[in-house]
This record gives sequence, C-alpha cells and structure tokens, in this order.
Amino acid sequence: MLKVCVIGMGNIGNVHASVYSELKDKNVKLAGVCDIIRERAEAAGKKFGVPWYLDAREMLEELKPDICSVTTGGFEYSSDHYLPTIQALEAGCHVLCEKPICNDLEKAQIMVDTAKRLGRCFAVNLNHRFTPAARIVKQWQAEGLIGHLLFINMALWIGRFEPSFDTEYYHLKALNPHSVDIMRYFGGDIDTVHCFATKAPGRDIWSTASINVKFKNGAVGHLTSSYDIKRGHPMERCEVAGVKGRAVLEDMWREAVLYPADSLVKKVFTNPTFGGFRDFYDTFKDRISCFVEQVARGGRPEDIDGSGEQGLEASRVIHAAIESLKTGMPVKVETMVK
Ligand SMILES: NC(=O)c1ccc[n+]([C@@H]2O[C@H](COP(=O)([O-])OP(=O)(O)OC[C@H]3O[C@@H](n4cnc5c(N)ncnc54)[C@H](O)[C@@H]3O)[C@@H](O)[C@H]2O)c1
Repeated sequence: MLKVCVIGMGNIGNVHASVYSELKDKNVKLAGVCDIIRERAEAAGKKFGVPWYLDAREMLEELKPDICSVTTGGFEYSSDHYLPTIQALEAGCHVLCEKPICNDLEKAQIMVDTAKRLGRCFAVNLNHRFTPAARIVKQWQAEGLIGHLLFINMALWIGRFEPSFDTEYYHLKALNPHSVDIMRYFGGDIDTVHCFATKAPGRDIWSTASINVKFKNGAVGHLTSSYDIKRGHPMERCEVAGVKGRAVLEDMWREAVLYPADSLVKKVFTNPTFGGFRDFYDTFKDRISCFVEQVARGGRPEDIDGSGEQGLEASRVIHAAIESLKTGMPVKVETMVK
C-alpha cells in the first residue's frame, strides 16, 4: 500500500486528497495533510479522517509517505511549490506538483534536477490532457491518421476577475502551462514564439493573449488564451492538422473528431453518458491515477507522463512569450534559463 500526503490544503489540495481517498482499489492510502494555515490543515484532516500538520517537514518525518502532492500556490500561483517539493523529494517521496511548476525558472530547474539526482519520480499536474479523448487523438496521430504535422491551433479560456493580480503576466503564467503542454503533447518541442496581448476593459493585466508558435519539427501553431470569458465549460479547443487528417479535441474530454483528408466520412469519439467523465474533477482523477499507477509498478522517473521536465518546458515557452510581449519580437524558447 502506497502512503500519500498532501501539502497545501486550499481548494486544489482538497481535490487531490479527495481523489486519493477514492483510489483505495489502487493500493493507495491518504496518510496525512498539511497547511501552514491551521484552519485549513485541521478542516482537511477532519474531513478526510487523517492526521493534520502545520509543518511539512514534520509530517514527512513522522508519516514517511511514498508519494506527496504539492498543492501550494503563492506568488503567481506557484512560488510556494519550490520548498515543499524539495523537502518531499529529500524525504524520499515521489512528487506530484501542481502547475505551474514554479514561477521562477531557475528554481523549477533545481526541482527537476533534485528529482533526477535522487532518482524520484517527479510529475506536474498537467491534467487537461489526461482524458480518454486526448488519448484517442494521440492514438490517431501514432497510427499515422494525421500524418506529417502542419499546424496546431489551441485555445483555452476561463473567467477570472479578482480585484488584483500579482503581476501583469499572471494570466499568461498561471493558465497556460496546460495549453502549452497540450500543444507540446501533439507537436513536440517549441522553437520560437511571438506573443501579442490585450488588457480587457478595467484590467491591469494582459488578460487575453495571442501567441504564434513555430515547432522544432517545422510545423506551425497558434494559442489563444483568455481570463476574460465569463462562463464555464466549454473552455478549451485543440485542432491538430496534418497532411492525412485533421483532429479536433473539444473541451478536453467531451469529444474528439477526426476528419480524414481522403474521405468525407469523419470519426467521432463522444464522452459516454454513463461511465465517462462527469466534469473537470475527473481530469484530476485520471491524472492522479496515472501517476499512482506509474509509481506503483516501479516506473522509471524518465518515463513519467506529464513529468516535471515537461512542466518546466511548458513554463519556458510561456516565459519566452512574455519576453516577446515585452520586446515585440519573436523569441527563441531555448534562450530562456537552462
Ligand atoms: N491543475 C488545475 O487544473 C489547477 C486548477 C486551479 C489551480 N491549480 C493550481 O493549484 C495550486 C493551488 O491552488 P489553490 O487555489 O488551492 O491555492 P490556495 O492558495 O488557495 O491554497 C494553497 C495553500 O497552500 C498553503 N501553503 C503554502 N505554502 C505551504 C507550505 N510550505 N506548507 C504547507 N502549506 C503551504 C497555503 O497556506 C494555502 O492554504 C496552484 O499552484 C494553482 O496554480 C491547478
């Protein structure tokens, strides 16, 4: 039985803890929770019936978990990931860290390097692509039904209207690890980006962005992302086009459609009414189950799906886009801190 702890008991930490509690058949057991805010730690401990802590190091020493979820937030929704991730890795845990890996690329690199040095599995919660529909598009691609890649058009939009954000770049940094990861999932490494952005009325952040992308393999792409759309799902769309076919992935898990180049008959995968994904929560369930299964069967750190390294690469692309927004020029991703 794998013992799991969760560090950071805000909304998302509670989601992780709830998923682990539901995964009993996968030989995993929630063993403890921690938050530096007493009310949050205590409420989560009582809710899940596990010991609660105010200090991560103390919890790691006492409970000796096999897996640790790091679901802290902080400046730009990610500065607090660094310390508990390092603490958990050094305590011998395999770590699943929330996205963005870290707002500071140098620290993110240290997180990845530490996991490598200690031989621990380190993953980032890139949950948007952990869905049956995304896997089907990936399978079509692997079977050659899309063919030589031409373009990827990606869009991700939600509504976030807090009175203030930490920086002008909050939306770009906090939202887009998901969208960039999906583009990289289907298109591979990104070479260059060129970003334009706008501030919606009343906003002091770049709240809607348009990013042109050149992939290393020569394909092109585009990402539209926004914090300005006031409604729930659908919130995402990805179009992957090649010389043999074009696939469209709607709202992460709802539908995947393949339009073959040589036929007027399209293939459609629709989320099943019974036994399919109910809502966004199920992307967490799928992603966390995958990580637990990979760890349980002794998966190698370099084979982890949605790894720390992939999370870091997605953030590197975003930092390049921010540099492009500042300078007005296209920016090569490899120029971002290595
Ligand atoms: N994957 C997704 O779809 C998704 C969706 C929303 C948010 N997120 C990410 O989830 C993370 C958490 O989001 P949230 O809304 O729950 O944030 P939050 O700020 O409400 O909660 C984070 C908690 O971590 C605690 N914390 C900070 N440092 C700590 C430490 N060293 N030890 C113990 N506790 C500590 C804070 O006290 C706080 O209670 C963020 O990184 C965010 O980007 C992911």
